[in-house]
This record gives sequence, structure tokens and C-alpha cells, in this order.
Amino acid sequence: MTETTSPEQLAASAPAHLPATASAGAPYRAAGPAETSPVVLRLERVGVKYGHRSAVDNVCMDIYKNRITALIGPSGCGKSSLLRCLNRMNDLIPEAAVSGRIYLDGVDINSDAVDPVQVRRHVGMVFQKPNPFPMSVKDNIAFGPKRLGLGSRGRINEIVEGALRAATLWEEVADKLDQPGTALSGGQQQRLCIARVLAVNPEIILMDEPCSSLDPIATLKIEDLMRELVREYTIVIVTHNMQQAARVSDYTAFMLASEHGLHGQVIEYGATKEIFTNPRDKRTEDYITGRFG
Ligand SMILES: Nc1ncnc2c1ncn2[C@@H]1O[C@H](COP(=O)(O)OP(=O)(O)OP(=O)(O)O)[C@@H](O)[C@H]1O
Ligand SMILES: [Mg+2]
Repeated sequence: MTETTSPEQLAASAPAHLPATASAGAPYRAAGPAETSPVVLRLERVGVKYGHRSAVDNVCMDIYKNRITALIGPSGCGKSSLLRCLNRMNDLIPEAAVSGRIYLDGVDINSDAVDPVQVRRHVGMVFQKPNPFPMSVKDNIAFGPKRLGLGSRGRINEIVEGALRAATLWEEVADKLDQPGTALSGGQQQRLCIARVLAVNPEIILMDEPCSSLDPIATLKIEDLMRELVREYTIVIVTHNMQQAARVSDYTAFMLASEHGLHGQVIEYGATKEIFTNPRDKRTEDYITGRFG
């Protein structure tokens, strides 16, 4: 991929036929026949190792466009490690090695021809702790579009307003655009970070426990925002909060590692309603009913 790769170009270079199934027995398709939305991300036998320790093992799953997919499971089961595979953030961890294949719109994101910076543009990320850049509210949003050369100053102003509106933050910060991003409340900072991701027009947004540092009201605002955003974007969220997964997500993958915190795997993947009301695996049931984790 070059600096100018568009989603259309990404799609155009897709292999004609993705395999219909992955390795035997692995959770793969979460959707029933009623799901009309296409697969946007396909994970095939994805693994993550840190040195010799296997943190994630043999994960196969399809992620659907314009849906919220939640990754849940006990601490250390590999949720963040798996999430970081989806936009090549593990590349930035020297001891991390990713195996398997991940297709974004049919393109293998780990192939040599693909630029990780472009992958991260198409697949943005929001972290646990809001991390505004040490600059004004406006410059936080303008930073990405400017780097990508996305237009004149007038156009940048439009992008800033559009992203802040889309993140339901505009009304609260319209008169504070020149103030430091770090001066906003925690919940506002997190929506600023979401707006910063939206400003470069991604296809997918990854969120790693985006509400864990927020109070209940700020949390509900982010959850409402997610349901708005999913009309246009695909969201994958890691959450420890099972009520949150049940409230916001369409699909849920339950992950579990071995007793020694190794080989995190997806144990069960399905429609959120099914996972929470009628889990097929005893381990999923034990987890969602609070028996461990
Ligand atoms: N940079 C790293 N170097 C070495 N080991 C790591 C690194 N990051 C994670 N691990 C290990 O990989 C395993 C999975 O960690 P990960 O952070 O993905 O789990 P998690 O499910 O996100 O946990 P939590 O819910 O606590 O955030 C753990 O055993 C962890 O110690
Ligand atoms: Mg984590």
C-alpha cells in the first residue's frame, strides 16, 4: 500500500475468493443466515507470541461491517494482544511476533507490500486512558488530516468540526478549540480521541477498554456514541464490563487462556444475545455468570 491507497484500492487488490472456513473446530462465523452485512476483517489462525510465550493462539474469526464486536474474558487472556493485531500495533512491541493471516477487505495486512501506517489509518485505535496530544483541541483533530495532506485550511476546519460533531463533542468544545485538549474532562478527552480517529476517515475503530477510566455518565455517553458510529464504521471493543458488552455489542467473542496465562483462545463467538442468554460452552457460562475472572 502506498500513502494514497484508498479503501477501494484495498478492495480491488483482494483475492477473488476468501476461504469459506478456517481450521477445524475453531470459532469462525458468528452470524446466522440473517446477517446481511459483509465480513470486513477475517482472522485465520492468528497467534501472538512475546519471545517464547504464546499469548494468543489459533484465533479464527470473521468480523462484520457496521457491527460492534466485543472481546471479553479474564485479565491476561490476550484480548489487547489480539486487538493490537488488527491494526499492526504489535509491530511496535519489539518482542511481539504475530502469526496467521488477517485480511482487511480481503487484503493480507501483514504482507510485505502493505504499509502499516496505512493499515492504522484504515483501522484506528482508542486506548484505555484518554491520550490527547499536548496541543489544542483543534490541533488534536487536525494533526492526522494535515499529515495525510487532506486539504486546505478551510477544509481542515470543516474536518475538525465534522469529527467533533460525529464524536458528539462539538457543542461542548466549540468555544474551546484553542484550549489544550488535556484541559477537557476525562469523558470529553476520550471523545476527543475518538474524534481524532474519525478525522482520518477510518473504516474500523478498535477500542481497548475505552470507558475503564470514566464515570458512569461519561461511560453511557461513549456507549451511545458507539451505537451512533456503528452506522458508518465497524467497531471492535475490548471490555471487562459484561453489562457494557451486553448493552452495546452485536457480537461477542469470549477468550480464555490456559491456567498459566498462556495460549489465549477464542472459546466461543456468537451473537451477543446468544452468548449472554444461551452460551454453548460451560466456560463461557461460568465467566458470564461471574464464577471466575
Ligand atoms: N509487551 C509484552 N511483553 C511480554 N508479555 C506481554 C506483553 N503484553 C502482554 N503480555 C502477556 O501476554 C498475555 C496477554 O496479555 P494481554 O494484555 O493481551 O491480556 P488482556 O486480556 O488484554 O488482559 P487485561 O484484561 O488485563 O488487559 C499476558 O500473559 C501478558 O502478561
Ligand atoms: Mg488488555
